[in-house]
Amino acid sequence: MKEQIITLVEQALDALRQAGTLPAEPRPPVQVERTRDKQHGDFATNIALMLAKPAGRKPREVAEALVAALPASPAISKVEIAGPGFINFFQAGDVLGSALKAALADDHLGVPQANPPGTVVVDYSSPNLAKEMHVGHLRSTIIGDAVARTLEFLGHRVIRQNHVGDWGTQFGMLLAYLEEQQDQAELSAELSDLEQFYRAAKQRFDDSGEFADRARSLVVKLQSGDAHCLKLWHDFNQVSLSHCFEVYARLGVSLTPQDVRGESAYNPDLAQIVAHLDQAGLLVESDGARCVFLDEFKTRDGQPLPVIVQKADGGYLYATSDLAALRYRSQTLQADRILYFVDQRQALHFQQVFEVARRAALVKPGTDLEHMGFGTMNGPDGRPFKTRTGGTVKLVDLLSEAEDRALALVSDKNPDLDQDELVDIASTVGISAVKYADLSKHRGSDYIFNFDQMLSFDGNTAPYLLYAYTRVASVFRKAGIDPHTLDAPIMLEQEREEALANQLLQFAEVLQQVADKGLPHLLCSYLYELAGQFSGFYEHCPILSAESEALRDSRLQLAWLTARTLKQGLALLGIRTLERM
Ligand code: ARG
Repeated sequence: MKEQIITLVEQALDALRQAGTLPAEPRPPVQVERTRDKQHGDFATNIALMLAKPAGRKPREVAEALVAALPASPAISKVEIAGPGFINFFQAGDVLGSALKAALADDHLGVPQANPPGTVVVDYSSPNLAKEMHVGHLRSTIIGDAVARTLEFLGHRVIRQNHVGDWGTQFGMLLAYLEEQQDQAELSAELSDLEQFYRAAKQRFDDSGEFADRARSLVVKLQSGDAHCLKLWHDFNQVSLSHCFEVYARLGVSLTPQDVRGESAYNPDLAQIVAHLDQAGLLVESDGARCVFLDEFKTRDGQPLPVIVQKADGGYLYATSDLAALRYRSQTLQADRILYFVDQRQALHFQQVFEVARRAALVKPGTDLEHMGFGTMNGPDGRPFKTRTGGTVKLVDLLSEAEDRALALVSDKNPDLDQDELVDIASTVGISAVKYADLSKHRGSDYIFNFDQMLSFDGNTAPYLLYAYTRVASVFRKAGIDPHTLDAPIMLEQEREEALANQLLQFAEVLQQVADKGLPHLLCSYLYELAGQFSGFYEHCPILSAESEALRDSRLQLAWLTARTLKQGLALLGIRTLERM
């Protein structure tokens, strides 16, 4: 609807520009917003206010000319000028009804497919394999997954890239420790707790100079392609990756082994990248290291801030593999957009590598490179989340605690359900509570992790939404009606019906914003409001005891579309709904 109005306004503006009523420039984008107060129509634009000054006319005059030039449309019943020159649009009543019918008849709930679809690379999760996944990886994994799913739903070609940290000096230490282990049974036990394994290796490294030397020589051997080292390294990474995939499975994250393309995959390209930067005239040597200096990056006291791409000892860096990855994603994968869901603290790194990649033409011109940074997940004390003893919290432990707490809650609420079903419900409630708590906050801000809050059945939480969904689903169970058989027209006579209808029809707009801005909390707020609108409707508009069968069927269809929208919206957030709980 919004798009339609924008098109109409643009047509009118073109006509006015041709007639000389408005100058050819400027051409600010036409903004159309939904109004809060429906007495002032359903949509409004401030375009006349924006154009008045450059045209040397009063805003109201521009608004009047614009309204006069507006092409007629069956979707608009009335247009009004308000205040200093806002233009308000009233949509025709039957437009809502027919849009709802169209959404009901469509597997995509009336959400248009991107035209043309783009190729979008989404870099997310990307843990370091030397250690086990910890809470620091949760946000990237969950937020990235929701945005990837949304982009896909909108028809884009999404290529997930799990840029795992599978290379670097820590691996020397791990390999040296791995080599020392003679007892296979003991080794596999140790590897089942990678965190412990890493700590033990680190301890050896710190305690023994001889061990540390061996670790360093193993890195060199590994980097020069020694077969024995490569095998150890590969085996270690397989174990570590299998830990990651256990976490993904529990979290319901859509990453697969095919999506893994770690730092090591770019090893063969690194020398080329440095040579390429050299050819582009961007390379400067500084204390033996090879660097790129860009004017726009300076330290606080004005000193130049280099991007180091090769150390004096010949080693390459995190930035070098990211430059190689940018080239691969743009040139080989043919990405139109490349999104990075990585901690906000890496913002400078991304600004720098993006700029270097553009200058050196490692990426095609016009490729969108976007760092979708996020804040820190903090504990109740407002400081980065830690265990009681100050260690990093392993993700698997966090998820188990969420499930245990959820089990206590749902057992309390449903003493009659059998244990298997309770455990299944608790697992969905616990895991989705953790995911939703993260997804529902603006990703840019830090947030406080709080089990009690995220597991509450009130407020903008997963349990609330899951429960709201089961309520809608139960309408059909109670009525014994198959929603697919309903085909009565939709009537929107009550205010609550119309409000619900309007909310339902905003699904596409919201998804578009999530995809454009990489902000899944917008979808969370939308679903929360939708659930609220449904409650209001359900209280005020009797469904099964409606005055007529036609009205009952109309309301059932509103309920059915609500259920499907909630289910689909939660699925895009990576949250599975329950039919009862
Ligand atoms: N492995 C890195 C870390 O744990 C994140 C990698 C993000 N992706 C990238 N292309 N740099 O901090």
